[in-house]
Amino acid sequence: MNKTILCIGAGYVGGPTMAVIADNCPDYKVIVVDINAERIAAWQSDTLPIYEPGLQEVVERARGRNLFFSTDIIAGIKEADIIFVSVNTPTKTFGEGAGKAANLQYWEKTARDIIEHAESDKIVIEKSTLPVRTAEAMHRILQSNTKGLNFDIISNPEFMAEGTAVDDLEKPGRVLIGAMEDESGQKALETVANIYRNWVPEEKIKKTNVWSSELTKLVSNAMLAQRISSVNSISALCEKTDANILEVSSAMGMDPRIGSKFLNASVGFGGSCFKKDILNLVYLCEFHGLPEVAAYWEQVVLMNDYQEERFVRNISNHMFNTVAGKKIAIFGFAFKADTGDTRESPAIHVSKLLLEERAVLAIHDPQALKYAKLDLADYEGDISYETDPYKAAEGAHAIAILTEWKEFRDLDFEKLYASMEKPAFIFDGRNLLDHQKVFEIGFNVYPLGQKALSHL
Ligand code: NAD
Ligand code: UGA
Repeated sequence: MNKTILCIGAGYVGGPTMAVIADNCPDYKVIVVDINAERIAAWQSDTLPIYEPGLQEVVERARGRNLFFSTDIIAGIKEADIIFVSVNTPTKTFGEGAGKAANLQYWEKTARDIIEHAESDKIVIEKSTLPVRTAEAMHRILQSNTKGLNFDIISNPEFMAEGTAVDDLEKPGRVLIGAMEDESGQKALETVANIYRNWVPEEKIKKTNVWSSELTKLVSNAMLAQRISSVNSISALCEKTDANILEVSSAMGMDPRIGSKFLNASVGFGGSCFKKDILNLVYLCEFHGLPEVAAYWEQVVLMNDYQEERFVRNISNHMFNTVAGKKIAIFGFAFKADTGDTRESPAIHVSKLLLEERAVLAIHDPQALKYAKLDLADYEGDISYETDPYKAAEGAHAIAILTEWKEFRDLDFEKLYASMEKPAFIFDGRNLLDHQKVFEIGFNVYPLGQKALSHL
């Protein structure tokens, strides 16, 4: 074996990233550790802890050969030359910066574990998304060791998206590696680049200084989210003017300077990172005395809240100004298709607002019901969870589509319609369905940013 790689944090990023590294780099031993024993046991089993297309095959190819999952963090630290840190960095909920700044306690804990147990020099890699200049604090903590060891800090943020993680990791748009500009930092950068060179073309490996790399990750997410909020804001205007957001997005996207991707209007963006990373960017701007810049980016999150609230207001307005006591079938709870992840899913906020209006909810999702139950556990109201979409819709007044699962398109809408209360409504928060077709079946259809198709 060439070198041993350790990854601390076996979550949505640590697990898939290391599986793809191990698969492509048979000369490296890759160990993934976590404090969560249940998660590690799942990585060792046939039922992986996360649903991600293609991941099972990649894990099975490498597991036991050069990919290992373990809870023994100390042994991993002792053995590894290169340590990726991929622990969670949620929004701080307490003290200064609460609600915006990143909570770095898990990150700092791993740095302290590393100095306590390391017996040789290491390269420590920030895989988690971190505020710009975190590497400075981490470097200070690591260099405070009294064993005379050298630690190089590298920033190598992850750009994969859930649902397409394996593809994104196997064919990344870019691999960003930021390092300190001294000789030791540059040597560490090459060591990390050499891992990726096993399968990533040289021109996709982008080398920067460590601060640019940290900031690029935050800004990349902010720019992506900004596109969605921009398009969502225009979806509201389309509904007032009979312009069609699909036509506007696609015509606008034909300009190569704008580009056609990431212009789908939706009920709102979710996921564990967009909101957290933008708020972190906002906090950094405030901290550095840039209130105008902070306010600019904060608006992206406020627009997302507005879109979720507007969706619920539309439901209520079109259903004769009340949803109290009416059953609404929620189709899709995951924050996007092809994942079971519900973190910051718009479905949580939408469900909460509907429950406050005393609606009766029947929630169906092909992958995310387990997390949906946990997310709504503290909310009062009449909620049921259905693995069968037809049961969810039985006796319902409306279907609200909140995740763009392709299989929803293939449902038998005649059958759904027949079992529902009349008039029956569809609120398509993802513009997923063939609206004309379901309208002809009898539904009153309310797409996003398009003309409603109503029999009323
Ligand atoms: P996650 O919550 O799924 O996984 C983090 C794991 O770290 C958990 O299993 C937790 O038990 C473990 N952990 C926490 N403290 C630990 C410690 N001291 N020692 C060992 N293990 C510890 O989070 P995630 O979604 O994988 O995200 C990780 C980081 O990657 C975040 O900074 C996130 O912003 C970033 N990121 C996430 C994605 C994504 O798609 N989820 C994509 C790119 C970047
Ligand atoms: C996003 C980024 O795309 C990744 O590059 C990044 O690594 C990751 O965040 C992260 O740092 O965590 P992810 O959140 O997994 O990935 O999924 P996306 O495909 O970006 O979707 C995010 C949200 O935006 C979803 O709720 C999705 O439905 C929504 N979305 C996306 C839209 O509403 N419209 C679009 O056109 C695209």
